[in-house]
Formats: sequence, C-alpha cells, structure tokens
Amino acid sequence: MEFEGKSAFITGASSGIGRTVAIELAKRGASVFIADINEKGGRETVAMIKENGGESQFQRTDITNEQDVIESVSLCNQMYNKIDFAINNAGIIIGAMLADLSEEDWDKVINVNLKGTWLCMKHEIQLMKKQQFGSIVNTSSIAGKIGLKHHAAYVPSKHGIIGLTKTAALEYGKYGIRVNAVCPGTVHTSWVHRVTKKLSNLHPLGRIAETDEIAEAIIWLSSEKSSYVTGHSLVIDGGRTAGEQ
Ligand SMILES: NC(=O)c1ccc[n+]([C@@H]2O[C@H](COP(=O)([O-])OP(=O)(O)OC[C@H]3O[C@@H](n4cnc5c(N)ncnc54)[C@H](O)[C@@H]3O)[C@@H](O)[C@H]2O)c1
Repeated sequence: MEFEGKSAFITGASSGIGRTVAIELAKRGASVFIADINEKGGRETVAMIKENGGESQFQRTDITNEQDVIESVSLCNQMYNKIDFAINNAGIIIGAMLADLSEEDWDKVINVNLKGTWLCMKHEIQLMKKQQFGSIVNTSSIAGKIGLKHHAAYVPSKHGIIGLTKTAALEYGKYGIRVNAVCPGTVHTSWVHRVTKKLSNLHPLGRIAETDEIAEAIIWLSSEKSSYVTGHSLVIDGGRTAGEQ
C-alpha cells in the first residue's frame, strides 16, 4: 500500500474534510492519529478506520491549548515513532461584518484558526527537525486569498495561515520539511447546511466541492508525489476565484 509504514497527525478529523482525509490515508496504509476537540466524532472516525482494517488513535485536543498540543504530538510520536504527515485542518467559522463583530467572536476565530494552527506547526516542526523529514499541510480557504463579506475574522485568520505556511517553508526547508496549504472553495460539510442554488452558482463548475475532492489535494501535498512543492497554497474552488463573474 502507498503509505504503509507512514504515520499522520491530523487535526479536525472528527467530521468533514479532515474525516475524509483520515479515512483515505488509513485505507492507503498510514497510521492516523486524530487530535480534535470533538471526542464523539473523533472516536467515530477511528471506528470507521478500524472497520476498514486500518490503524488509528484519537486524543481529545483543544488546539488553542499549547499543553494539549504538546501532549498529542508527543503521544503520536510515542505510538508511531515519527510523524511523516501533519495535517492542520481544524477550524471554525463565525460570520459577521467587521463593524458588527464582537471582540469575543474575533478572539474565538483567531484563536482556533490562526493560533491553533501555529501551535500545532510549532510542535510538529520541533519533532520534524529532529527527524530531518516531514510534510505539513494546513487548511486555509479561498478566504485566505480573497476578501469575503460577512467574514471579518475568518478571512484574516485564513490569510494568516498562508503567511504561516510560507514562513515555515522558508525556515525549515533545510531540515527536509515541506509546508503547504490548501484553499478550498465551498465544500459539502456540516458547515453548509443549505446548499442553495446561489451558492453553487458562485462556482463556475456549477456545484460546491465534495470532501474527497479536497482530501485528494491534501494527500498529494502530504505525499512524496509533491516532493518539490513547498510554501505553496493550492486553490481548489471550482474556479470561483479565477476572476470576475
Ligand atoms: N466546508 C467548507 O466549505 C470549507 C471551505 C474552506 C475551508 N474550510 C476549512 O476546512 C477545515 C475543515 O472544516 P470542515 O468544513 O471539514 O468543517 P467541520 O466543522 O466538519 O470540521 C472542523 C473540525 O475542527 C474541529 N475543531 C474545531 N475547533 C477545534 C479546536 N479548538 N481544537 C481541535 N479541533 C477543533 C471540529 O471538532 C471539527 O472536527 C476548516 O479549517 C475550515 O475552515 C472549509
């Protein structure tokens, strides 16, 4: 199998895009360590992987809490002896226009999406530097590339993830560590409760994405197949940001 002997550390795999990535990596032979704040969903993902004959462990982790992140990265390393792929995918969205956003909601979004991603990268990279290898993929968004109305905290948090990705790629390439990001358009997950025609029409392909279409890109960027790609943020948006419509 393609990823036999590889181990992956993934956040935000209790549902949505992260769950699909976790299941797919495990199907291809990787051992998958899931770090997520949602215990029920995380354990369900592990059960789904084990039903397919794969290897997976869950650890309840709040990525805004450095101690949680330290313990989870270290536990993953203890269980699987290394981290080949780190996928920092956990994120939240709270919609509000800039002048209406509360300080509390700003802090929540920035803490999970930006600080949480940085904390995970920090501790993954400390381990990967010792290993002298590793591939990190962060989940940004098209909101990391363009502005979006009503998302005054989410947009800067996702732009910030691209900044972290580029900076880490520059700093740690010499240790054999690659760092990339994905920028999905709208994806069919729990976030998208009502798939309106209007939403589909924003994407030139005429539909929103399925989670496996984003998962494939994350897996490619994690794997050796993208061995010369680093510091990149890959847009997967059905053409939504290609230009004015
Ligand atoms: N769904 C979309 O349309 C879309 C588009 C672009 C980008 N994204 C990004 O994709 C990523 C995954 O989102 P999704 O669409 O699969 O939604 P989701 O809500 O299904 O997944 C988010 C995951 O993050 C976890 N999480 C939230 N806060 C956490 C914390 N403090 N610590 C640890 N885990 C935490 C949740 O428990 C959940 O498992 C997010 O970063 C999101 O911003 C989603």
